[in-house]
Amino acid sequence: MNDVPRVPCHIAIVMDGNGRWAKQRFLPRFAGHKAGVDALRRCVKACASRGVAVLTVFAFSSENWNRPRDEVSSLMDLLVMALAREVPQLAADGVRLCFVGERDGLSLALRAGLEQAEAATLSNAGLLLNVCFNYGGRWDLVQAANRLVAQGQAITESSLGAAMQMGKVPDPDLIIRTGGEQRISNFLLWQAAYAELVFSDRLWPDFDDEALDLALCAFARRERRFGKISEQLAPALHGQPVV
Ligand code: FPP
Repeated sequence: MNDVPRVPCHIAIVMDGNGRWAKQRFLPRFAGHKAGVDALRRCVKACASRGVAVLTVFAFSSENWNRPRDEVSSLMDLLVMALAREVPQLAADGVRLCFVGERDGLSLALRAGLEQAEAATLSNAGLLLNVCFNYGGRWDLVQAANRLVAQGQAITESSLGAAMQMGKVPDPDLIIRTGGEQRISNFLLWQAAYAELVFSDRLWPDFDDEALDLALCAFARRERRFGKISEQLAPALHGQPVV
């Protein structure tokens, strides 16, 4: 036993497998992404009810621009539709929405939608939902470093961390990737330093409460040492703390 809470404060998710989910059903990839929005809605509710404070999801990466043009535009359209459909309920549920990523490459309509969604949920005190859209971990590091250089500030671990897009949010405790692949794909490169990683074979649209609870159980079994040794973490079990 140690003093690390069993429920992670911050969960981050690479929502992978929408395309394969659709392919298995002889549906267009777009149908998989649409089902992905449904899975995200369920996941937000499940995380909030389990006491998770922050949920960060990877919805569109800097590299996703390289997909076929119709898939890229369908993902853009899906976000616009999802905002219109989901924000009122999210706002009513006390969720605060925040979009993380480069906005310059997005359409004016989409940028306005993101700003409206953030404004509509700004004062909510429930779950913080960060949606990484047109986001890459390397981009985040570069924009943070450039910001510090422009301000004439020294680059240190603490100044760089604070200049990252989620500089005010605690780092993720748990990163889940669905879809069976085991890689980080340019997600939260800086913030992942001490995250526990859980890989699920479920395709994202099939990631349900049971799959989330499996990931939470795996997390609860991990010993997070942050560079220390076990005896320093659990003095009650191991005798005197080692300092
Ligand atoms: C990866 O699956 C998923 C994405 C690139 C998009 C993730 C988007 C959602 C879950 C829907 C929420 C989106 C918005 C816009 C709010 P993939 O397409 O790479 O699946 P595959 O590996 O099976 O091909």
